[in-house]
Amino acid sequence: MRLDKDYLMELELDSHFAMRESMHEAVTSTNNANAPVATPKAKVATAAAAIARPTPQIIAKAPTAPPAAPPIVIDPARAGSIATLAFSDLSNNANACKACGLCKQRKQAVVGSGSTNAPWLFVGEAPGTEEDDTGEPFVGQAGKLLDAMIISLGLKRGTDVYLTNVVKCRPPGNRPPQVDEINSCAPYLDRQIDLLQPKMILALGKTAIARLTGSEESLNNLRGRVHTYRGIPVVATFHPSYLLLRLPEKLKAWEDLTFARREFNKRILATATL
Ligand code: URA
Repeated sequence: MRLDKDYLMELELDSHFAMRESMHEAVTSTNNANAPVATPKAKVATAAAAIARPTPQIIAKAPTAPPAAPPIVIDPARAGSIATLAFSDLSNNANACKACGLCKQRKQAVVGSGSTNAPWLFVGEAPGTEEDDTGEPFVGQAGKLLDAMIISLGLKRGTDVYLTNVVKCRPPGNRPPQVDEINSCAPYLDRQIDLLQPKMILALGKTAIARLTGSEESLNNLRGRVHTYRGIPVVATFHPSYLLLRLPEKLKAWEDLTFARREFNKRILATATL
């Protein structure tokens, strides 16, 4: 006979309810055809024990927080060796990387593009199909909108901005990268930031700002503020792929870009007058 626990699992309710083990013990021991025949004395003892036991019932657990993310496992030796790479070695190293499952389907790792002297670093989510084909970040539809965003900031893509992503390899089906993939790729983004020393980082979308702040707050809560990562100011805005689907949000993106530009100018002016 299937236990109630099995039904709960099938309905995906098993994590919300706990069955009292004593209930199963009683049910299984009385239904087992191969069990030795109980003597009258043993039957009385079993009945007494059953009365002594609390009535079988399903206990609803108190509402709990969603399951915690899997523990972050970063191999310190690997992270340490990436932390010593020269900028020119990052691409070869990432193309040989097998630290997560994304290596299985990528055509190539897409490490980044732009001037290594660029004062701005833009961080997206992950390469898509066209980026995987060409090895260049932001060359598809989202890239075209990003170009317009760069121009609206008064910047030039090749010289003023370095473009990269949280993960360097395309997730299958262009799905968002998973926690283990983001963590496996973390040493590359950290090394890029340490070497580039940009004056300002623009985080494009939820994945990028969550990676750079460690916060699970919504993008709406995280935009409009200056965060700091590895000593560099970080401002968040919407990912261009999201804006392509929600054109009215472009107004908010415009606010973010002007905010980022203002904060950038303030900082440049402050360092120029020192
Ligand atoms: N989306 C991203 O986040 N990055 C790219 O490079 C392309 C699309």
